[in-house]
Amino acid sequence: MHATWHLPNGKTVTAEVKSGLTLMEAAVAHNIPGVIGECGGSLSCATCHVVVDPTWSTRAGQPSAFENDMLDVTDADRQPTSRLSCQLRMAEALDGIILHVPG
Ligand code: FES
Repeated sequence: MHATWHLPNGKTVTAEVKSGLTLMEAAVAHNIPGVIGECGGSLSCATCHVVVDPTWSTRAGQPSAFENDMLDVTDADRQPTSRLSCQLRMAEALDGIILHVPG
Protein backbone atom coordinates (compact mmCIF):
# COMPACT_ATOMS: atom_id res chain seq x y z
CA MET A 1 0.00 0.00 0.00
CA HIS A 2 1.16 3.53 -0.50
CA ALA A 3 0.44 7.15 0.30
CA THR A 4 1.44 10.41 -1.35
CA TRP A 5 2.35 13.63 0.43
CA HIS A 6 2.30 16.94 -1.40
CA LEU A 7 4.83 19.24 0.25
CA PRO A 8 4.48 23.03 0.56
CA ASN A 9 7.46 23.48 -1.81
CA GLY A 10 5.55 21.77 -4.62
CA LYS A 11 7.37 18.45 -4.33
CA THR A 12 5.54 15.17 -4.01
CA VAL A 13 6.65 12.09 -2.10
CA THR A 14 5.03 8.70 -2.62
CA ALA A 15 6.00 5.96 -0.21
CA GLU A 16 5.12 2.42 0.73
CA VAL A 17 3.00 2.28 3.89
CA LYS A 18 2.33 -1.01 5.64
CA SER A 19 -1.24 -1.79 6.58
CA GLY A 20 -1.92 -0.87 10.20
CA LEU A 21 0.68 1.87 10.34
CA THR A 22 -0.60 5.39 11.00
CA LEU A 23 0.10 7.99 8.36
CA MET A 24 2.02 10.00 10.97
CA GLU A 25 4.31 7.00 11.61
CA ALA A 26 4.75 6.55 7.87
CA ALA A 27 5.54 10.24 7.36
CA VAL A 28 8.14 10.21 10.14
CA ALA A 29 9.70 7.00 8.75
CA HIS A 30 10.01 8.63 5.34
CA ASN A 31 11.23 12.00 6.68
CA ILE A 32 8.31 13.97 5.33
CA PRO A 33 9.12 17.55 6.35
CA GLY A 34 6.41 19.27 8.36
CA VAL A 35 4.91 16.10 9.86
CA ILE A 36 6.55 15.76 13.24
CA GLY A 37 4.41 13.56 15.45
CA GLU A 38 5.90 14.96 18.63
CA CYS A 39 3.53 13.17 21.02
CA GLY A 40 3.94 9.81 19.33
CA GLY A 41 0.29 9.61 18.34
CA SER A 42 -1.45 10.29 21.63
CA LEU A 43 -3.47 13.22 20.26
CA SER A 44 -1.76 15.86 22.32
CA CYS A 45 0.55 17.78 19.96
CA ALA A 46 -1.22 18.42 16.64
CA THR A 47 2.18 18.41 14.87
CA CYS A 48 1.00 15.61 12.58
CA HIS A 49 -1.54 17.90 10.88
CA VAL A 50 -2.24 17.11 7.22
CA VAL A 51 -4.95 18.13 4.81
CA VAL A 52 -6.57 15.14 3.16
CA ASP A 53 -7.02 15.63 -0.57
CA PRO A 54 -10.74 16.31 -1.11
CA THR A 55 -10.94 13.26 -3.41
CA TRP A 56 -10.07 11.10 -0.38
CA SER A 57 -11.97 12.84 2.39
CA THR A 58 -14.98 10.52 2.35
CA ARG A 59 -12.80 7.42 2.61
CA ALA A 60 -10.67 9.01 5.32
CA GLY A 61 -13.77 9.55 7.46
CA GLN A 62 -14.47 12.14 10.10
CA PRO A 63 -12.27 13.07 13.07
CA SER A 64 -13.35 12.00 16.54
CA ALA A 65 -14.63 14.72 18.86
CA PHE A 66 -11.26 14.96 20.60
CA GLU A 67 -9.30 15.06 17.35
CA ASN A 68 -11.72 17.73 16.18
CA ASP A 69 -10.85 19.88 19.21
CA MET A 70 -7.12 19.35 18.64
CA LEU A 71 -7.47 20.44 15.02
CA ASP A 72 -8.31 23.90 16.33
CA VAL A 73 -4.80 24.29 17.77
CA THR A 74 -2.69 23.32 14.77
CA ASP A 75 0.14 25.64 13.69
CA ALA A 76 -1.16 26.05 10.16
CA ASP A 77 -4.76 27.08 9.70
CA ARG A 78 -7.25 24.28 9.73
CA GLN A 79 -8.84 23.37 6.38
CA PRO A 80 -12.20 21.64 5.79
CA THR A 81 -10.45 18.27 5.28
CA SER A 82 -7.72 18.70 7.90
CA ARG A 83 -6.86 15.63 9.97
CA LEU A 84 -4.25 14.60 12.49
CA SER A 85 -2.40 11.90 10.63
CA CYS A 86 -1.71 9.85 13.77
CA GLN A 87 -5.43 9.10 13.66
CA LEU A 88 -5.38 7.82 10.08
CA ARG A 89 -4.41 4.17 9.88
CA MET A 90 -3.41 2.62 6.58
CA ALA A 91 -5.90 0.03 5.38
CA GLU A 92 -7.25 -1.22 2.07
CA ALA A 93 -9.66 1.73 1.82
CA LEU A 94 -6.84 4.28 2.16
CA ASP A 95 -4.38 2.67 -0.24
CA GLY A 96 -3.19 5.50 -2.51
CA ILE A 97 -4.37 8.32 -0.25
CA ILE A 98 -3.15 11.82 -1.09
CA LEU A 99 -2.25 14.19 1.74
CA HIS A 100 -1.18 17.83 1.65
CA VAL A 101 1.34 19.02 4.20
CA PRO A 102 0.34 22.53 5.33
CA GLY A 103 3.03 25.16 4.74
S1 FES B 1 1.25 12.80 16.71
FE1 FES B 1 0.60 14.16 18.27
S2 FES B 1 -1.44 14.57 17.77
FE2 FES B 1 -0.78 13.24 16.17
